[in-house]
Amino acid sequence: MKRNVLLIGVGGFLGQHILKNAGHCHECILVPVFHTPMSGATTVDVSDNRSIENLFAATNPACAINLTCLPVAVCEQHPDTAYAVQAIGVKNLAQVCASTCRLIHLSSDMVFSGRKGSYYLPNDVPDPISVYGKTKAEGEGYVSQYAQNYAIIRSALILGRDPRGTRGFIEWMLGNVNKRVIFPLFSDQYRTPIVIDDLVSMIISLINDDFIGTLHAGGDQRINRVGMGQWLCEGLGLTEIPYEEIMMSDSESRSPMQKDLSMDNSLIKYVCNLTCTDTKKYIIALGRREYEESRTSTKTWPNHCLHQ
Ligand SMILES: NC(=O)c1ccc[n+]([C@@H]2O[C@H](COP(=O)([O-])OP(=O)(O)OC[C@H]3O[C@@H](n4cnc5c(N)ncnc54)[C@H](OP(=O)(O)O)[C@@H]3O)[C@@H](O)[C@H]2O)c1
Repeated sequence: MKRNVLLIGVGGFLGQHILKNAGHCHECILVPVFHTPMSGATTVDVSDNRSIENLFAATNPACAINLTCLPVAVCEQHPDTAYAVQAIGVKNLAQVCASTCRLIHLSSDMVFSGRKGSYYLPNDVPDPISVYGKTKAEGEGYVSQYAQNYAIIRSALILGRDPRGTRGFIEWMLGNVNKRVIFPLFSDQYRTPIVIDDLVSMIISLINDDFIGTLHAGGDQRINRVGMGQWLCEGLGLTEIPYEEIMMSDSESRSPMQKDLSMDNSLIKYVCNLTCTDTKKYIIALGRREYEESRTSTKTWPNHCLHQ
C-alpha cells in the first residue's frame, strides 16, 4: 500500500523541484504542504503546534520531509521569528513524528563557522555564527532528541533555477546580467555547491531508507563565488566580465559570513548509492540553455554574447 509522505515547505525552491520529480518516489504519495494559505491546498504553520497536530491527524504520514526555512537576511532582522520557525518549528515536528513517522530534515552548511580550514564531516560539531545557522543548529538538536527515525541533510549552496525566479545564487547572477548591473563576487568564499537534481534524488532515496543520522549533501567540487560566475559567463558566451571580484572583508553585509563551508559528501553518496553531477559542466550548460531560450523569448542578454 502506498504511504503518505508530507512535503512541508513545498512552495519554496527545493520543494517545487521535489514535486516535479514525484514520479520517482515509489511506494509513496507525496502530499504537498504549503505555508501561505491558498484555496484547496493543505497548509501548515510549523511554529504552531496545533497546526502540525491537525496536519498529522488528517494525513497520517509515514514520512515527513521538512523544507521550511526563512531567508538568511530575514533571520538576522527577525531573530524571534527565525527561532520560532527553524528551532521551535522543528521541535514541534520532531515531537509529533516521535516513533511513528520518519523525519527527513533539511539543514544547512551554515551550521558551521567556515573557519575549520578543511572539509566539514557529518560528525563535526556545529559552531554557527549567524542567526540562520544558530537556529538551524538548534533545530537539528531537536530532531535527534525527539524523532526516532530521522535523517538530517545538511545541504550546501543549491544550484538550479528557481521556478519562482526569486531565490538562489544562480537567479541572482542571471538577474544582474540581464539587467546589465555589475555585481560583486567573493574571491575568498568557498563552497561545495550541489546541483538541485542531485539533492532531489538524495532526498527521495532516503524516504524508504533505514539510515538514521546526519549527512552532508555537497557536490564534488570546491569552488569560490568568482569561479561559479566565470562558468556561468562561459555558458552565456559573455565576452565582457559582468562582475567585480571582491573580498568578503570589502562587503558591508549585515549577516556574518562564512569563508569556507566545504563539506565532505562521501557518506551521502555511499548511503544513497548516487554520484554527483559535474558542477562546472552543469553551470556552463545552464548558462548556455538560458542564452538559447532568450532567443525565443522577450528576455535579452547583453549584446556582447559570443553565441550567435
Ligand atoms: N537554497 C539553498 O541554497 C539552501 C542551501 C542550504 C540549505 N537549504 C535548506 O533547504 C531547505 C529548502 O530551502 P529552499 O531554498 O527551498 O527555501 P525557500 O525557497 O525559502 O522555501 C522555504 C519554504 O518554507 C516555508 N515556510 C516558511 N515559514 C514557514 C512556517 N512557519 N510554516 C511552514 N512553512 C514555512 C515557505 O513558505 P512561504 O514562502 O509560503 O512562507 C517556503 O515554502 C531549507 O531547510 C534550507 O535551510 C537551502
